Amino acid sequence: MIYEKSKRAIFLDRDGTLIEDVGYLQNISDIEFFDDTIPVLQELQKHFQLFIVTNQPGISEGVLTKNDVNNINNYIIEQLKRGGVNILDTFVCSHHRRNDNCNCIKPEPYFLKKAEKDYNIDLKKSFVLGDHPHDVEFAWNVGACGIYLLTGHGEQHKKECHKDTIIVENITEAKDFILNKNTIIDSSVSRAATIIQNGGTVAFPTETVYGLGADALNPKAVVKIFEAKERPFFDPLIVHISSIEQLYDLVESVPAKALCLAESFWAGPLTLVLPKSDIVPDIITAGLDTVAIRIPHHPTALELLKKAGCPIAAPSANKFGMTSPTTAEHVKAQLEYDIDLILETDIPCNVGIESTIISFANDEPEILRPGGIAREDIEKCIGPIFDPSNADLNKPHAPGMLKQHYAPETPMILFDKEKSANYAKNLKIGRVFFGENPTTESFCEVRYLSKTGDLAQAATNLYAIMRDLDKLNLDLIIIDSVPNKGIGVGINDRLKRATHKK
Ligand code: TXA
Ligand code: MG
Repeated sequence: MIYEKSKRAIFLDRDGTLIEDVGYLQNISDIEFFDDTIPVLQELQKHFQLFIVTNQPGISEGVLTKNDVNNINNYIIEQLKRGGVNILDTFVCSHHRRNDNCNCIKPEPYFLKKAEKDYNIDLKKSFVLGDHPHDVEFAWNVGACGIYLLTGHGEQHKKECHKDTIIVENITEAKDFILNKNTIIDSSVSRAATIIQNGGTVAFPTETVYGLGADALNPKAVVKIFEAKERPFFDPLIVHISSIEQLYDLVESVPAKALCLAESFWAGPLTLVLPKSDIVPDIITAGLDTVAIRIPHHPTALELLKKAGCPIAAPSANKFGMTSPTTAEHVKAQLEYDIDLILETDIPCNVGIESTIISFANDEPEILRPGGIAREDIEKCIGPIFDPSNADLNKPHAPGMLKQHYAPETPMILFDKEKSANYAKNLKIGRVFFGENPTTESFCEVRYLSKTGDLAQAATNLYAIMRDLDKLNLDLIIIDSVPNKGIGVGINDRLKRATHKK
């Protein structure tokens, strides 16, 4: 089950919000845009779908015809389009509050619900902008955020506003409010820790990838992780801790081999799946009786864990199924507005791919996901270990290990020498090499996982390269697989999934 990404929207009142309110507006020559309307909408539409919702009681009163209103609206939409602004739909209520018994006049939420259904809009993450208290109530009726503007009739009706109303001078201030609302990027670990303690969500760096964290013992906070990522609830989360002592609160028992691994590789990119204790909420484990735990090595992650004072549940901080993030910017690109804070740091996620997961759910330990710690190193510690993930994509042992995962939106395939002569010549191809490039062919874009054939460097670079190429509107990405040893096994696993066709 992969969610279709629902979209956020801004629902704009017309008169007094986008243009001067001149009363019953009948003539195109009376339309007067506010100076900042177009530049503000240009910026907002980078992140939001735009709609206009307008009450036009003049139609019911017989002062305006539907045609008049349509003409005006079409002209406004045309002017906006010339300014590069696209309005997805315009909703008009032609009724009157006193005379007609309609269900579509603001603040009735009729049009918001219609947009939710017709355009797959996530109303809880959407905004309404208007210069009447009804606009704000309209938003509140569906759990959206209403912003009251003092332009138009705003000053006049201000005293009727509920005390919790967000009031701004004009559409520019409304935009600033919206764009600043949830996009805190900050390097303050204390601030991040306070948010976690208060049940919020924080994206934070680990040595593998950025995680999206919440207090693991607070189910309501953990739900927010699933919502932000659009992650199905059957996919359990990894719990991050800062000391081995903490482990004993969260698990029933620690087999000797597990302890040996913990002592050898923690803090580091190794996750252990162990029988869970009662304090671990079911939402973390997707109802399983085991819990996945690791101590990350990244100093910022450790500092956050210590300051927050609780175990932190954190999957990778990307939308479900997509490429994992290794920078604050990557997180912002997918989760902006969905989370409370992105913790920024100068220390890179230098492992670059996720932790190796080892399960102790059964008698014999097995590798559920190859990753940052090589199988060879694990075997030096506890002897031979079964690795089903290496065998076949059709056996997802970790519930969240899907055949298709980590994928960029641009189609990506593994380089295949046999087929390389047949790659269509007219395609815009991004080519990713492992090792120095021996070919003379020219590609649109060329990147190197590692010029020197260094697997650790390839892992560090992998996701950033995928994301970078994904932004360039290519038709295809062709990527080398890497030698299947050490961290190369983890890289190849990610490549297999990222190139698996939808
Ligand atoms: O390096 C990492 O492990 C990163 C950083 C943030 O720590 N985290 C990460 O989390 O990769 P995520 O959610 O993207 O992947 C966790 C994987 C999923 O495939 C999930 O199904 C599996 O761990 N998992 C979690 N709990 C499990 C359990 N009790 N049994 C089996 N698999 C489990
Ligand atoms: Mg993930």
